[in-house]
Amino acid sequence: MFCLSFFSFVALGIAGAASVVSDDVLGVDLSLRERNSTTSLIDCLTRAGLNPVTPSNPTYQNDSLPVNLRLIYKPAALVYPNTTDDVSASVKCGAVNDVKVNARSGGHSYASFSTGGEDGHLVISLDNLNNITLSGDYVTIGTGNKLGPLYYFLWENGQRAAAFGTCPQVGVAGHLHGGFGYHGRKWGLFLDQVVEMEVVKADGSIVIANNHTNADLFWALRGAPPSFGIITRFTVLTHPAPTHAATFAFTYTWSTPEVASSAFQIFQHFAAETDLPSDLALQVRYTEATPVPTFSLNGAYYGNDGITGLNRTVQPLWDALGALNDSVPTATIFEDLNWIQNVVYEADSDPTIDPKVALQEAQGFQIPFYSNSLFYPADNLLTNASTLSFTRYTYNGTSADVNWYVLWDVFGGKNSAIAAVPQDATAYNARDMLMNLQILGYSTTLPYPDDGIPFITGILKSVTDPMPGGRFMGYPNYVDSQLSREEAHAWYYPTHTAKLQRIMREVNPKAVFDYPQGFLPT
Ligand SMILES: Cc1cc2nc3c(=O)[nH]c(=O)nc-3n(C[C@H](O)[C@H](O)[C@H](O)COP(=O)(O)OP(=O)(O)OC[C@H]3O[C@@H](n4cnc5c(N)ncnc54)[C@H](O)[C@@H]3O)c2cc1C
Ligand SMILES: *[C@@H]1O[C@H](CO)[C@@H](O)[C@H](O)[C@H]1NC(C)=O
Ligand SMILES: *[C@@H]1O[C@H](CO)[C@@H](O)[C@H](O)[C@H]1NC(C)=O
Ligand SMILES: *[C@@H]1O[C@H](CO)[C@@H](O)[C@H](O)[C@H]1NC(C)=O
Ligand SMILES: *[C@@H]1O[C@H](CO)[C@@H](O)[C@H](O)[C@H]1NC(C)=O
Ligand SMILES: *[C@@H]1O[C@H](CO)[C@@H](O)[C@H](O)[C@H]1NC(C)=O
Ligand SMILES: *[C@@H]1O[C@H](CO)[C@@H](O)[C@H](O)[C@H]1NC(C)=O
Ligand SMILES: *[C@@H]1O[C@H](CO)[C@@H](O)[C@H](O)[C@H]1NC(C)=O
Ligand SMILES: *[C@@H]1O[C@H](CO)[C@@H](O)[C@H](O)[C@H]1NC(C)=O
Repeated sequence: MFCLSFFSFVALGIAGAASVVSDDVLGVDLSLRERNSTTSLIDCLTRAGLNPVTPSNPTYQNDSLPVNLRLIYKPAALVYPNTTDDVSASVKCGAVNDVKVNARSGGHSYASFSTGGEDGHLVISLDNLNNITLSGDYVTIGTGNKLGPLYYFLWENGQRAAAFGTCPQVGVAGHLHGGFGYHGRKWGLFLDQVVEMEVVKADGSIVIANNHTNADLFWALRGAPPSFGIITRFTVLTHPAPTHAATFAFTYTWSTPEVASSAFQIFQHFAAETDLPSDLALQVRYTEATPVPTFSLNGAYYGNDGITGLNRTVQPLWDALGALNDSVPTATIFEDLNWIQNVVYEADSDPTIDPKVALQEAQGFQIPFYSNSLFYPADNLLTNASTLSFTRYTYNGTSADVNWYVLWDVFGGKNSAIAAVPQDATAYNARDMLMNLQILGYSTTLPYPDDGIPFITGILKSVTDPMPGGRFMGYPNYVDSQLSREEAHAWYYPTHTAKLQRIMREVNPKAVFDYPQGFLPT
């Protein structure tokens, strides 16, 4: 999603939310049975020295607020462990009291699954597990770390880099559902960089998971982390930062939905049919605007030949869009940046800002939003009818009081490191997908309007309805809160669900780690 760091409502968070949610959150109404197990849970946590934050604690409301203010839940308690042993003790307290347990890394789940996705869970917030240790080509990181500080740390320690997504406040552990950044086609998804983990299992035991030890657990956590364990520490591959990051963003406004549809056709055919170097990142940000949506073609090229290589690679696409002869693009940026400036730019900040401020000290935001996603493969490109249905729907005015955008990211294509990993190497199930659409609506005031969900769902349907039988799937990092458990498994893990359920039977047979779309040991 956009990092939204340039929006003025960055701080809507507490001040804005408090007025709407305070009575509701504080009036926690638990049934007798739940109250009993909650009391006993809190006793257990207190006896273990874990200082639980409970509904009667003055910081409870703030501590419970997720990034997505559309989905606010009331945990039975929250804990802030300092060590892996603290995490283990917390899990045991949840398990013996039949209270569901969820980890929170950066709290950026689109469906607020790190605060349970429903009321009454124990939230284990990993903020204090924020150690970072560099050793040779690998970095070992506590799972309370956020992406921005990690980018900055690696750059400051020998101009190293690693494959993460773009927004500084996203947590490293939830990101393991995928983890796509601008250098994803070059190095792969974040989940492909992890070589070993320390994990607290549902029985409280602490284990190492890698290719050789607990290999099934390691397989499942890379793509489907929440159901299988709480990761406390990762070891991650790093790379020397590229010396160039030729960065561009050209914004077009197509006069009619017909021309806009042709532009999307040109873009997807270019992505599917060109011998795109892995050094190239390419994205269209299609954003609500008046009178028509804007089509911003963004990209970066990390090859040593900088702007020359960028031009050689992307010129045919610029030429083809130019030949539509309908929009003169405005360039927001066309510059050979260095690595860390490019990271700052992709985080929606000005690349001239001190990276310490933009990444290390970046402030988070909290807003109400709804999002879904769509992947499609190169052998199932969108038909003219599909892109035309999409552009007509989005040129037809916004029927709900939300701001929206659709990000079209090229994940695959020729030479993509994401696609080079075999489909069954990890739980992540979208290796053969070319293009990802993230469709997102947000509101600058609370609450998110009811018709804002069908409006966004309508954008997705406008693409898929004209292609019955088309091969589509979703991206689990952009998790859709509206899907049932079964729908979610089929959408995100179409060929991996059975194996994931089998692994559940072995590692989490009582579904201690559970949430509305979690796997069950069936
Ligand atoms: C502003 C914004 C920008 C984003 N940009 C990108 C991007 O560029 N690329 C991309 O791929 N994605 C992106 N995302 C999606 C993001 O990767 C996912 O939302 C991710 O799940 C968030 O991770 P988190 O740790 O912050 O979330 P959390 O809400 O803390 O966790 C998400 C899920 O993982 C579980 N979990 C958390 N910690 C652990 C753990 N230690 N062990 C096991 N399970 C755990 C939680 O219980 C929850 O179910 C973005 C999201 C937002 C809101
Ligand atoms: C409360 O929990 C205890 C032990 O966990 C149990 O013996 C008791 O019956 C429970 N009471 C209610 C009202 O559920
Ligand atoms: C973690 O450490 C801090 C600082 O030493 C301390 O205040 C806090 O109580 C500790 N938390 C737990 C759960 O032990
Ligand atoms: C609320 O919690 C956030 C962390 O999630 C913290 O940074 C902030 O200081 C807290 N605000 C208040 C008013 O306690
Ligand atoms: C944190 O990292 C430092 C080295 O950077 C190391 O000495 C220390 O033991 C680590 N602490 C934990 C809790 O892993
Ligand atoms: C795990 O083993 C597979 C198959 O041998 C290999 O392709 C992969 O790179 C290994 N992954 C890690 C993280 O070591
Ligand atoms: C799709 O539309 C383009 C013009 O935008 C046209 O050239 C092409 O032939 C059409 N394809 C099909 C299959 O109709
Ligand atoms: C790259 O392309 C841009 C835009 O077409 C052009 O202005 C610039 O001169 C080109 N630079 C190089 C080094 O080819
Ligand atoms: C455009 O909006 C009108 C009125 O809301 C609606 O009837 C029509 O079906 C919409 N068309 C498309 C293509 O979405």
